[in-house]
Amino acid sequence: MKAYELHAAKGGLSLALNDKRAQPNPGYGEVLIRVHAVSLNYRDLLIMDGAYGRSAKANVIPLSDGSGEISAVGPGVTSLQVGDRVTGAFFPDWSAGQITEAGVLSSLGGSVDGMLSQYVVLPERAALKFADHLSYAEAATLPCAALTAWQALVDIGRISAGQTVLLQGTGGVSIFALQFARAMGATVIQTSSSNDKLERVRQMGASHTINYRDTPEWSKEVLRLTEGLGVDLVVEVGGAGTLEQSLQTVRVGGTVATIGLVSGVGAINPLPLISRAVRLNGVYVGSHAMFAAMTKAISAHQLKPVIDRVFDFEQAADAYAWLRSGTHFGKVVITVGD
Ligand SMILES: NC(=O)c1ccc[n+]([C@@H]2O[C@H](COP(=O)([O-])OP(=O)(O)OC[C@H]3O[C@@H](n4cnc5c(N)ncnc54)[C@H](OP(=O)(O)O)[C@@H]3O)[C@@H](O)[C@H]2O)c1
Repeated sequence: MKAYELHAAKGGLSLALNDKRAQPNPGYGEVLIRVHAVSLNYRDLLIMDGAYGRSAKANVIPLSDGSGEISAVGPGVTSLQVGDRVTGAFFPDWSAGQITEAGVLSSLGGSVDGMLSQYVVLPERAALKFADHLSYAEAATLPCAALTAWQALVDIGRISAGQTVLLQGTGGVSIFALQFARAMGATVIQTSSSNDKLERVRQMGASHTINYRDTPEWSKEVLRLTEGLGVDLVVEVGGAGTLEQSLQTVRVGGTVATIGLVSGVGAINPLPLISRAVRLNGVYVGSHAMFAAMTKAISAHQLKPVIDRVFDFEQAADAYAWLRSGTHFGKVVITVGD
């Protein structure tokens, strides 16, 4: 079968197509998935650059996110059958409850082979059914970005109708967060470097938008918009370049769901955390149980993931470059054919 691998290269890893990789067979309790589509996350750039924090295994198949149909089941499989449409779970070993070290170590596309392959074998528990109205390309966007946004808003933020959330940028996580927040009846304030992208998020229901390039002290504008009180939840994807302002924009007793580091890493000043009694909560994607809850909401609201661009399997390197350019709005997808 054909699969991409990450090979050691100068300054990180490089993408290489292996068109003679052995097709895996499902063992006891496992399923074989014929992959139809995969999607990229910022994490995949970090892994390629050797900047993810955990090293990738040698010649790993990259990408955590993919969808396909079950093409064979191993002995002992009871909940899935040939033809079922599934996505892989980001963490095959985090089914429900609190995240564990074992769960973290099971993430696909880093220490374990991922989805940029024609066929993938996963444990039955890690092949998750998705909403009927979604295409394979749409479903391929869910395992990381959508579930992270869902956990941030629902499990950590406990957002309810009428509350206000601050979203940063217009990448995969933030666009899903916008869709979920609007479905929950929350008010959204969203930032971006692009006025065109801000117009698009307004069309999707964001009430207030701020260009963080034109307004580097965007936290003041967020406070003005919230009558000096601050937002209930910040979905923090910026990291060092945004965290200090995020802590200044959250209300007393509010939450900062700390997800990303698109503007880098660095030290933080603990003072606003204390003086505003802020809850700073790290988020790491989500469990299978959270995915099931998210699937119900996606079905109930007939939500459709926002796909920016779809690349062919042979154009995988171009898809990585497109994501790295930061031009995208929402998700970047690669289709996987015969
Ligand atoms: N902890 C987790 O479980 C988890 C899960 C998923 C993602 N993440 C992390 O979350 C971050 C976002 O991931 P993603 O896949 O959604 O990325 P993505 O699709 O590549 O989106 C990145 C976006 O970030 C925005 N951005 C860049 N610099 C910014 C800044 N200074 N302030 C505000 N926004 C800025 C840009 O939006 P504009 O073009 O609109 O300016 C850019 O398009 C990454 O750091 C990723 O590693 C973490």
